[in-house]
Amino acid sequence: MTAPDRPDVDLGHHGDVEVGDALVDLAVNVRSGTPPRWLLDAVAASLKELAAYPRQDETVAAVAAYHGRAVDEVLLTAGAAEAFVLVARAFAPKRAVVVHPQFTEPEAALRAAGHQVGRVPTARDDGFRLDPAAVPEEADLVVVGNPTNTTSVLHPAADLRGLVRPGRVLVVDEAFMDAVPGEPESLSGATVPGLVVVRSLTKTWGLAGLRVGYVLAEPRLVRALGAAQAHWPVSTPALAAIRACCSERAAKEAAEAALELDGQRRYLLERLSALPGVTMYGEARAPFVLLRLDGADRVRNALRRRGFAVRRGDTFPGLGPDWLRVAVRPRAVTDAFLDTFAELLG
Ligand SMILES: Cc1ncc(COP(=O)(O)O)c(C=O)c1O
Repeated sequence: MTAPDRPDVDLGHHGDVEVGDALVDLAVNVRSGTPPRWLLDAVAASLKELAAYPRQDETVAAVAAYHGRAVDEVLLTAGAAEAFVLVARAFAPKRAVVVHPQFTEPEAALRAAGHQVGRVPTARDDGFRLDPAAVPEEADLVVVGNPTNTTSVLHPAADLRGLVRPGRVLVVDEAFMDAVPGEPESLSGATVPGLVVVRSLTKTWGLAGLRVGYVLAEPRLVRALGAAQAHWPVSTPALAAIRACCSERAAKEAAEAALELDGQRRYLLERLSALPGVTMYGEARAPFVLLRLDGADRVRNALRRRGFAVRRGDTFPGLGPDWLRVAVRPRAVTDAFLDTFAELLG
């Protein structure tokens, strides 16, 4: 399946434009209550170094140690979003495919770089699970999200490893992986030829405004991606934040937050499943859940009028106006949201 020449959906639409106006934010999946004080302090302490150009060595070493990788397997980026642009610039795929529905920036970046993009759909009736056999054999660039935004599905690492081929670059977007307790399906620690793992510190640490992420890949691919990058791409405060997020304290806090999130999601799913007309597909493992509801678009607008922002589903390839994505939040927020949602559903 090939994507139309002109995108059929607005690939540049993101949840951040749906929040504001004092709405309760269930549209953007940044963890509540972040960034923590210790992280803000680390960023603030770096400000006295602003006169100097940023030096990456120490930060690259910290990321490498955190994931058990060599330093030449790490590329720091201005968020995961920059990594997708680098992939699109560095490689010249003859047949690029993106597994959908998923975060739209990888496809947008590939198109912006002039590449044709094919889509590999996952189906709601299969719980949005990836069927590795659906990826065309000749695809030389494959992009998959794990866990996937917006379906919340966590694909088995073995299925993803099975997509590796000589001459193929496999990009696995693990922007939400640190929200999965124990990260059982992560490929971040694995040096696999052709594999590019993209990570983000935006979500768990509340650093969307700082732009912090990185790529883990074999040295050859790290060099190719780095060659497409501007000089000094990651600022000194961003480097300080990355180092802080690689500390033992951060690892412990992230692990606890992931467990807490699991409980909050269970509660949200339980209450959602009691609502008339609301259906969920697949097993949610990320900090958000996807739901289907006839006329969801109308309900979303009614929710806005009642003070709640949820993410529209119609800008994700393969979904449509009957889909909504809802962030997992602490119980009190979920309760307030669901009371209003239930009332609107009658
Ligand atoms: C799945 C996924 N990957 C990557 C990103 C971008 O992350 P970053 O803020 O690190 O650029 C997002 C942002 O929403 C996302 O949902």
